[in-house]
Amino acid sequence: MVSIVVGGHYGDEGKGKVVSYLALEDDPAYIGRAGVGPNAGHTVVYNGKKYGLRMITCGFVNPSSNLLVGAGVLVDVKRFLEEVELTNTRGRAFIDKRCTIIEQEHKDADKGDNSKKIGTTGSGCGPANAARVNRTAKLSREFPELSEYITDVPEVLNDAIDSGQGVLIEGTQGFGLSLWWGNYPYVTSKDTTASTAAADCGIGPTRVKSVYVVYKAYMSRVGEDPYVHYLSDEEIKSTPEFSRLLKQADEKGLQGTGNQKIAQVLGEVGTVTGRPRKIGGFDFALARYSARINGATDVCVTCLDKLYPECASARKKSDLPKEALAHVKRIEDKIGIKATLISTGPEVYDVVDLRDGPK
Ligand code: GTP
Ligand code: IMP
Ligand code: MG
Repeated sequence: MVSIVVGGHYGDEGKGKVVSYLALEDDPAYIGRAGVGPNAGHTVVYNGKKYGLRMITCGFVNPSSNLLVGAGVLVDVKRFLEEVELTNTRGRAFIDKRCTIIEQEHKDADKGDNSKKIGTTGSGCGPANAARVNRTAKLSREFPELSEYITDVPEVLNDAIDSGQGVLIEGTQGFGLSLWWGNYPYVTSKDTTASTAAADCGIGPTRVKSVYVVYKAYMSRVGEDPYVHYLSDEEIKSTPEFSRLLKQADEKGLQGTGNQKIAQVLGEVGTVTGRPRKIGGFDFALARYSARINGATDVCVTCLDKLYPECASARKKSDLPKEALAHVKRIEDKIGIKATLISTGPEVYDVVDLRDGPK
């Protein structure tokens, strides 16, 4: 039984939050980290403590799950070891023996002109993936400081699946950042869909049962991308949810364009880079397209409370106001798939779970 969580827009949709909830609620024996590498910044808020994780899966919150980094994922050795300490997961955190290692030269190369034009995270991911393609990269099995963490992730996961144990896979970034499907060249250095997330961990497509595609109730984008449609002043004025947020920003005396003020009220700042994110209205066309290409079985909508404050921390559908329910219904109708997880706050259990049961 394999479930995969991926982003349906431009990253930062709240995959970390969704993965941490599924980890605790569905209790998978193994949680695999897929995706690009430490360019991702996943956030978990658990028992009042906030973690910004770039290498260890947010599923660490379940102490009985083993945590695996798939072979397709780029590893920053220092960051990985720091996060093992931070999350206190030594003994149950492992990485595949074939992960590409990010070295200083990759980080340096990720500060060049092309990286600036794209607005990369500067974490060395693009140059490290290029080195892997050129077959000059070093792999995790060559690093003595990683020896106690090294394993064969596909062997472990496929054995687990054979014996009926649960496996959860955490993707990173979002569909609009995919090297194949995003707004090239303003994209990351790899595909970001569920098929690639499965391949990152050595899981074949026939073994995947559920694909959760995560969308924020609105859209955010960090980095350069002239093709994204951001909220204009006119749209802010004509949309009650956004004009309410702008009013709040003005009451607080926040500075900048309308879009920048709304981003500040929403707390939309990059987890890895600290850069302000730009805000867009929910992109229904992109959402539908990404659900199709990901083979979505479940849609997750996060941050509903940021647009409709009355939703904050709600756990029952009946506690959601009708404007919020109408927004979710619009998303479901346009995508053509039910929203089964609705997130109403940053804490792990701030969720309305409409699934039939663990999958
Ligand atoms: P990437 O892999 O970098 O794309 O990250 P991500 O999808 O895991 O999202 P990230 O953690 O970067 O950003 C989501 C932000 O929204 C975090 O600060 C979360 O704590 C927060 N968040 C997630 N869900 C909710 C929610 O339902 N309500 C509120 N208020 N905050 C949420
Ligand atoms: P790179 O992945 O660092 O090469 O960055 C390429 C593009 O993807 C840039 O626009 C980044 O801002 C964006 N990006 C990469 N990782 C994330 C993420 O985790 N969240 C949001 N945007 C990201
Ligand atoms: Mg993030």
